[in-house]
Amino acid sequence: MIKKAVLTSLLATLGLAAGSAVAQQELNIYSARHYQTDEALYGDFTKQTGIKINRIEAKEDELIERLRNEGANSPADILITVDASRLAKADEMGLFAPVKSAVLEERIPAHLRTYTWIAFSTRARVIVFNKDLVKAEQVQNYEDLANPALKGKVCTRSGSHPYNLSLGAALIQHNGAEKTEEWARNLVANFARNPRGGDTDQIRAVAAGECGVAIANSYYYARLMNSTRAEDQKVVEAATLVWPNQKTTGTHINVSGAGMLKHAPNKEAAVKFLEYLASDDAQRYFADGNNEWPAVAAVKVNNPALEKLGEFKVDTLPMSKLAGSVPEAQRIYDRAGYR
Ligand SMILES: [Fe+2]
Repeated sequence: MIKKAVLTSLLATLGLAAGSAVAQQELNIYSARHYQTDEALYGDFTKQTGIKINRIEAKEDELIERLRNEGANSPADILITVDASRLAKADEMGLFAPVKSAVLEERIPAHLRTYTWIAFSTRARVIVFNKDLVKAEQVQNYEDLANPALKGKVCTRSGSHPYNLSLGAALIQHNGAEKTEEWARNLVANFARNPRGGDTDQIRAVAAGECGVAIANSYYYARLMNSTRAEDQKVVEAATLVWPNQKTTGTHINVSGAGMLKHAPNKEAAVKFLEYLASDDAQRYFADGNNEWPAVAAVKVNNPALEKLGEFKVDTLPMSKLAGSVPEAQRIYDRAGYR
């Protein structure tokens, strides 16, 4: 006779555990997050609910590709990834299922929810400049970076990267497509070098004086601030952070988010997990793990860099609207040669 534990693991191996009477309730998460500290958080969910979590971790775009290939046979219940443009892409591909939850509606601000996925933490797209090369008043808004006075001074990562596409989508929403295309053309004309590297590379290049001004996500800057390495501290000293558009729309924010998948075999557990993500502990944990801010406003993280950076005016453009303009941002960047 097969022992129950063996049978359970056998069934799990065969992917038959879901809904099986002998098996523990399970939840399958595809996650683009991979911090060691996440373990404790997932463990806590299991302790609270008795639901065992199986995780597959991979790069953001790989996970979406994998879900598409798996189709209706996918064992995945939840997708966790970063950036509204990626979440929007997954949504457009029909990967997510709508979620109705009073807990999520109460906890997560409306602009950080769509009818499918939710944001559980936020990051800001900030401007970083070298005060020896550029005056602070020249770089207070995203729009300023297209000013011809900054010719040969601007650096960004690739225009096809989701972070920049989301920013472009926000600009389309606020300024219209025509003005955004003009902005993109002039931005490209101001480049100090062809886009290359990640956001941290742009910050370092600003500090080194290779670029006068750059765009980067806030957590990369906060990470350098929290670093104990002397060279990182020097970078922070030489590269000043600006919260863009404080007198107009507020600073463009982006998100880490999660959604229940359309073919989720464990839908009930999936909703429980999304609600768990909105809990105080999970909010604090997930946000702090990457120097981000919790989506639930009342939850505060204990992060020296974020505390030092202080508060700023946030652009509360709904994530759903932002997501809708991402394809247009891509077309505009293509025409403007922002690659
Ligand atoms: Fe990033």
